[in-house]
Amino acid sequence: MKVLVIGKGGREHALVWRLHQSETVWKIFCATGNPGIDQIAEAVPIAPTDVAALADFAKSKSVDLTIVGPDDVVAAGIVDHFTRAGLKIFGPTAAAAQLETSKSFAKTIMREAGVPTADFAAFDDAESARRYVKSRTGSMVVKADGLALGKGVVICHDTTTALEAIAEAMERRRFGAAGSRVIVEEFLTGEEISFFALCDGENAIPFGTFQDHKQVFDGDRGPNTGGMGAYSPVPQFGPEMEARTMREVVLPTLAAMNARGTPFRGMLYAGLMTDGERINVIEFNVRFGDPECQPQMMRLDSDLAENLLAAVEGKVANAAIRLSPRSAVAVVLASGGYPGEYKKGIAIRGLDRLEGNVPSDIKIKWAMKKIRVKVFHAGTAMRDGKLVTDGGRVLTVTAMAPELATAVDAAYEAAEMIEFEGRQFRRDIARRALGSS
Ligand code: AMP
Ligand code: GLY
Repeated sequence: MKVLVIGKGGREHALVWRLHQSETVWKIFCATGNPGIDQIAEAVPIAPTDVAALADFAKSKSVDLTIVGPDDVVAAGIVDHFTRAGLKIFGPTAAAAQLETSKSFAKTIMREAGVPTADFAAFDDAESARRYVKSRTGSMVVKADGLALGKGVVICHDTTTALEAIAEAMERRRFGAAGSRVIVEEFLTGEEISFFALCDGENAIPFGTFQDHKQVFDGDRGPNTGGMGAYSPVPQFGPEMEARTMREVVLPTLAAMNARGTPFRGMLYAGLMTDGERINVIEFNVRFGDPECQPQMMRLDSDLAENLLAAVEGKVANAAIRLSPRSAVAVVLASGGYPGEYKKGIAIRGLDRLEGNVPSDIKIKWAMKKIRVKVFHAGTAMRDGKLVTDGGRVLTVTAMAPELATAVDAAYEAAEMIEFEGRQFRRDIARRALGSS
């Protein structure tokens, strides 16, 4: 197969890395790639949102399968465009992607399908939203309906904060059109889990449980980021909870989407809030997660291209999908100042040590403990032949081992080998699962 991957972050590096090991894949293109991806895929200098040019490219190169990373590219309707052009592409149509692009759409589907989720109401005018908020007591969550780069959600422990969030989204238009509709929902407590399922429109197969770490600082403090680290599987969320999530969340959602004539094909990423036996869906995403994809690809033992093609072709029920029972953990190395302002172009040192020059004592230890380590590039660039920082999330150091604690130690050991001025990373990734927080 010839495969085209769209995107340029750590998630896409992980996808390309896994495809590179696939026996059925002999050529990988990536639009636009990054210095890590470029070592194993041919870079395609077409902007990920230039859907028409990408389809022309895929046609001209006889690409057999295209895989999309970023949510804005999915929302731009790339899957509809490729499908009309007779090209195979993994991901949902724009209509099915509304599960992520419109929170009120997602909530309506959940209500229709009987999927457990927080109580909610949707508003198109600020006055009604205000009236509703004033009639409620207790904590609430105010959300801009559309995609708002993860900033459209405000947890409100009092009415004043909720009123302010409504004014910000609906009157001051902080998120543009994404905030012209707002939903107000009940505040849930518990543990957040990212649950993935590979879907072909009718059937689905679980694709791993993860815990992301969204805040920038240890102990879940500081502003939200794209994600500072993740681990998988989540031991607190066992096979029984996984089976329940398939039965109570994923399959009813697929059935509801099918009934509307907009079947969901692609990766369904359910953000869950769990509390004991209780499972609630906080949100749906319709793509691979970042950084969840990095440990996910490390754990994947089956052929990624074949698995995704099975979803495109409606054959998930017969697909051989295997995730290693080992634990994988990803630690994101970010630029100083991220998620606020940060500098770019700072020299990155030490990566070559990890890629081929691991000190022999560490190498022996890792081999004896069956540890694998891989660093995925996210915001990096080559300048005058040297690797430099080029984004907020710079690298994802990922390690896999038979035990989670071993994988965590190895990821941090590797993370410490890489240096750049201002480098920051969380030191408590997976600590919750290890029971020491
Ligand atoms: P979302 O963009 O919907 O995933 O929301 C971003 C974050 O806000 C989530 O990861 C949760 O931490 C938090 N959040 C969203 N909705 C709720 C809710 N109903 N109750 C508690 N926390 C929530
Ligand atoms: N890990 C968060 C996301 O991919 O949206």
